[in-house]
Amino acid sequence: MRQKIDALLQEIAELKAQKLQEVEDIRVRLVGKKGSVTKLFEDFRSVPAEQKREFGQLLNVLKTKAAEKIEELREALENSASSNEPSFDYTKPGDRFDLGTRHPISITREEILSIFGKFGYAVAEGPEIEDDWHVFGALNFPPEHPARDMQDTFFISTGDNPILLRTHTSSVQVRSMEKMDLPIRIVCPGRVFRNEAISARAHCIFHQVEGLYIDKNVSFADLKQAILLFAKEMFGEQTKIRMRPSYFPFTEPSAEVDVSCNICGGKGCNICKGTGWLEIMGCGMVDPNVLKASNIDPNEYSGFAFGMGVERIAMLKWQVKDLRHYFENDVRFLKEFETVV
Ligand code: DAH
Repeated sequence: MRQKIDALLQEIAELKAQKLQEVEDIRVRLVGKKGSVTKLFEDFRSVPAEQKREFGQLLNVLKTKAAEKIEELREALENSASSNEPSFDYTKPGDRFDLGTRHPISITREEILSIFGKFGYAVAEGPEIEDDWHVFGALNFPPEHPARDMQDTFFISTGDNPILLRTHTSSVQVRSMEKMDLPIRIVCPGRVFRNEAISARAHCIFHQVEGLYIDKNVSFADLKQAILLFAKEMFGEQTKIRMRPSYFPFTEPSAEVDVSCNICGGKGCNICKGTGWLEIMGCGMVDPNVLKASNIDPNEYSGFAFGMGVERIAMLKWQVKDLRHYFENDVRFLKEFETVV
């Protein structure tokens, strides 16, 4: 027994392998079911009791050495570039990785832009950090208008033309009128900022899409038609719109647009608070003062503008009752939009 153990230890110490298959053969030869080390363990049963302790220890050493050697040979081959065996198993299943999904606000923004894209509107963008002129002045806000108030606007600097975070994407209208050739037909998506307490219905950061069309002979009928087509594309063919007179400094006349409630079909439910209508945007004919501020002659050109909140459209479309879901990014919420293209 001792001789056999010594002979095997000697053999193990001298083992070499060129290929992983050879290592596997060695493993089978030594510690496989009929391997020589395994065999010695069987012989061990007939060792006299007083020698069991000694041989038991020797056998354990042998077994450990065999296992170490096999592992050593395998590792050496796996790590060596010269090995012509693949260093990993191609047949193993690949690592699974989870795909992200698009955020519902992005989905909604893209849908709005693509609908207007079909109507021929180009996408225009502008800075989030703006000056007073582009957010208020050029849009016909009188100097003392409450929207300029510190309560609403995050100011970055004070002075003649303070720097601030834009409170609406209407500022991109002004930047576009300054630099684009007429006619202009654009939609302007972007983030806006208002100093509001965060609640289910309000947030200090949200998203808007502004629209602007300026050409010769643009009328209120054109505005109404554009918005009706948009509402049908966004909320379904059966959707109706209505316009309520309103006021914005940059449009005259101005209106607020409601769509027929897509939950109850206009009969009245708790989503539309029994009215059958849901407010989706503000709009109007571009005020001549706004055209003048950007050096466009109001006697030659007219236009319409509209502005909507992306979160609001998304809430109506998917009946999300709390705006904060869009900002918390709980994956369970986001996953609900996995199947929405
Ligand atoms: N800028 C407005 C707001 O933030 C939305 C708006 C209303 C934009 C009417 C327009 C418009 O272009 O014509 O509440």
